[in-house]
Amino acid sequence: MPGLGSRQHFPALTAEPDLVYLDAASGTPCPEPVIAQLTAELRGPAANPGRGGHPWARDALRRFEDARAAVAAFLGASFPDEVAFTRGATGAMAFLADRWGPAALANGGDILYCPDDHLSTVRPWLRLAERMRHQGVRAVAYRRDRLGRIDPGDFARAASERTAIVVATDVHNLHGTRTELDALAIPPAATVCLDCSQSAGRLPLRLADSRAELGVVSGHKMFGPPGTGMVYVRRDQHHRIAVDRAAARSGPARHVSPLTDAAEEGSLDGAGAAGLASATAFLDTIGLDRVGGHLATLATRFADGASRIGGVTLLGPPVDAGRPHSGIAAFAVDGQLGADVAFALEQRRVYVRAGDHCLNGPREDAVRVSFHLYNDENDVDRLLQGLAAAAERD
Ligand SMILES: Cc1ncc(COP(=O)(O)O)c(C=O)c1O
Repeated sequence: MPGLGSRQHFPALTAEPDLVYLDAASGTPCPEPVIAQLTAELRGPAANPGRGGHPWARDALRRFEDARAAVAAFLGASFPDEVAFTRGATGAMAFLADRWGPAALANGGDILYCPDDHLSTVRPWLRLAERMRHQGVRAVAYRRDRLGRIDPGDFARAASERTAIVVATDVHNLHGTRTELDALAIPPAATVCLDCSQSAGRLPLRLADSRAELGVVSGHKMFGPPGTGMVYVRRDQHHRIAVDRAAARSGPARHVSPLTDAAEEGSLDGAGAAGLASATAFLDTIGLDRVGGHLATLATRFADGASRIGGVTLLGPPVDAGRPHSGIAAFAVDGQLGADVAFALEQRRVYVRAGDHCLNGPREDAVRVSFHLYNDENDVDRLLQGLAAAAERD
């Protein structure tokens, strides 16, 4: 069984033992079982899944549907046909806004969104609101504070009986905060679209039990192959999906659901799907409760250490060590650009994320670290040492 805090199953990490990789929120290295699965797919019969009636094509399609069932179970969907494979979370969100949104908003209504969320989460809905402005569709903002928390009062002010869709982020990509949907006054008739890019693979997730009818997931942030992802649409929302029957016929000869007809037009990425399914099996052998607990330990150690370094400000709420945590944390160093801090850490072989963080507006000071199951306390200490040295330079 893969051990928490061990690099053992990650060839990219064992190849560079002195490297501290703290950018899992951008992309996770692939573990051995995923690499083995991808290799097996590429070495095996090369048929296009379902394109053709011969045994290779049929078998490839069967493996693709097995992969769907596996990831749907991992996400806690009620039925496999509620999940389709996409090219990452960006593609999944654009799909929802383009192919589910227009019917959902045909009679007008408000799209509630947070301008402080990832551009991939927000932009498709803003484009849709602009396109449907003349049909009475508006984009209405709710905000986060500097630590990434949503103020339920501010949310309640933005929500109304006009609210048709609430676009929410499960775990914020910079602050690492989890959105408590139950604490928000979401109008009962509104549909909730949840971006789970930073929660899937880090924290327990059961979409069927959540308030969300729609969801997106990024495969390469949860040990899947690069450029993979998933879109979730609960069955009772399938009737709103615009299916292009002719385009659907460009895919495999099969009908699973309106969701898969629309989201999986053209040739299927059989290797990507199988790789992603094996990533879910890998995570299941460890258990997401344990992953979230491990990440809470690392995040607590980091927050404790960083709060003792003069000039460092944490950009997230206090970590509750007793609860699973996303393992994502952000900070700023007084008087320094995030890019300079990241470069100073990089010199010490500690890789973190700086830049605009795919958010709207300037974040020049913010640095993000994102731990995952292969990180250990020594990695946190290497980060803290580098940070103390960087803060001293000021
Ligand atoms: C919250 C959030 N949503 C969406 C995305 C986009 O994901 P992908 O890389 O799968 O397109 C990211 C990636 O950083 C993210 O953090």
